[in-house]
Amino acid sequence: MTDKSTQPRVLIFDTTLRDGEQSPGATMTHDEKLEIAASLDEMGVDIIEAGFPIASEGDFAAVSEIARQAKTAQICGLARANFKDIDRCWDAVKHARFPRIHTFIGTSPLHRAIPNLDMDQMAERIHETVTHARNLCDNVQWSPMDATRTEHDYLCRVVEIAIKAGATTINIPDTVGYTAPRESAALIRMLLDRVPGADNIIFATHCHNDLGMATANSLAAVEAGARQIECTINGLGERAGNTALEEVVMALRVRNDIMPYRTGVDTTKIMAISRRVATVSGFAVQFNKAIVGKNAFAHESGIHQDGMLKNRETFEVMRPEDVGLSGTSLPLGKHSGRAALRAKMKDLGFDLADNQLNDAFVRFKALADRKKEVFDDDLIALVQDSATNT
Ligand code: KIV
Ligand code: ZN
Repeated sequence: MTDKSTQPRVLIFDTTLRDGEQSPGATMTHDEKLEIAASLDEMGVDIIEAGFPIASEGDFAAVSEIARQAKTAQICGLARANFKDIDRCWDAVKHARFPRIHTFIGTSPLHRAIPNLDMDQMAERIHETVTHARNLCDNVQWSPMDATRTEHDYLCRVVEIAIKAGATTINIPDTVGYTAPRESAALIRMLLDRVPGADNIIFATHCHNDLGMATANSLAAVEAGARQIECTINGLGERAGNTALEEVVMALRVRNDIMPYRTGVDTTKIMAISRRVATVSGFAVQFNKAIVGKNAFAHESGIHQDGMLKNRETFEVMRPEDVGLSGTSLPLGKHSGRAALRAKMKDLGFDLADNQLNDAFVRFKALADRKKEVFDDDLIALVQDSATNT
């Protein structure tokens, strides 16, 4: 067994309640947010971004209440780069045992054009706002939004300003899911090499999934020196979503041989919170979603089922129990074979002799051709009919 206690710790920053809730239609009620925050806290998430306090009275109330109730997680609120946002954010998070202010501004050419600030004016705004946040709270995170499309020299310059103004975490967002793993790693490495003071702060990676690379980009950033991953349950988030918490946490666990970093997350709580987030957000999890999809631990084909019945490692790289499931599922359908049918019938209390199994198998295949999935009641009816007919 590997001794993980000496491995570098990667902080898990969950933003289901902020970036996740920004998905059109994913709005959650006050009580649902409190419930999800309590589960995140209990499962060992390090930082919970509980909302955007200036966005609405409801967001302010939810962040304040989550801050009051959190036991071990840091509670973070989001604020744009202005004093009003930052003060409102502090008023909400200050109730927490471990509060954090997260302030951001878009630094790429496209984003600089929106507030119509030139490079120097923006640099000045960053200095003022991070200083202001740091005067309120000793735990300040700063993000250059659209960092992956920001000129490298300017990115280094503004990150240095934010660090000098007191930021303790610098988050590097791939706001539009544009980067790729090699580039994601190179960006973190460049910042660590070029920015004075970079050694004394934590770099975070915040990826979106527009090109389906959010998980790979986050892990590449960690290998290059990032020590905080920003993510959401089920990858909930704007457009194609954010990095999925369950994917990065399980990847670091299962491939710890090549990615030797530890997290504090109790992975056995993953399935329960995934289902709860799907219910309260109204965003169903796709069947073949990694880790938490209905089919992630299900095997229908005869060859796979036979292999699984002999040794589960033949077709599974992790144990379903490690994410909180009771076991592998071998749903019976038209691709299933005799071995799975025999095992299933045994589970249902029917120890079939070979000729009975052969008969049941023929009837089962005929049924499976007509139905997408064959359920326990179908099988019971099938053997009972068979017994009556013989
Ligand atoms: O994607 C993004 O850039 C963000 C920032 C607010 C950090 O969510
Ligand atoms: Zn985001």
